[in-house]
Amino acid sequence: MASPQKFTILAIVVVLPSVVLATEFIVGDEQGWTTNFDYSKWTTGKTFRVGDSLVFNYSKDNHNVFKVNGVQFKACQVPPANVNNSLTTGHDVVPLKTAGNKWYICGAAGHCNLVSPKL
Ligand SMILES: *[C@@H]1O[C@H](CO)[C@@H](O)[C@H](O)[C@H]1NC(C)=O
Ligand SMILES: *[C@@H]1O[C@H](CO)[C@@H](O)[C@H](O)[C@H]1NC(C)=O
Repeated sequence: MASPQKFTILAIVVVLPSVVLATEFIVGDEQGWTTNFDYSKWTTGKTFRVGDSLVFNYSKDNHNVFKVNGVQFKACQVPPANVNNSLTTGHDVVPLKTAGNKWYICGAAGHCNLVSPKL
């Protein structure tokens, strides 16, 4: 039996207060930002605070990062790329500047999917 496909999607809840020592989280750790990885599991047990950063490490030929809203996240809807929502360098550092939910998906075809976990 095939194991369930995992998609490159990530939701983060940023918790106040801000920190003295900022943490840089490599999303997915050694695996980086990729398919067949459970990012929801990756966030489990981690506390993200204002002042911390997310680092998206991936092959830019295969993946990218879109910052989306909750509706787009649940629908796996890739928005039109603009300077504020689209990351493509392969090593994107995203400072968590405000508290609240943050949602990220990969815009590559098939890398986000309607069967992905609903939050
Ligand atoms: C980023 O990904 C590359 C290739 O997958 C890997 O060699 C490198 O160690 C990763 N960097 C970090 C900081 O995890
Ligand atoms: C990008 O963000 C800046 C600053 O918040 C805003 O002024 C600008 O309109 C945004 N551009 C797009 C395309 O959303």
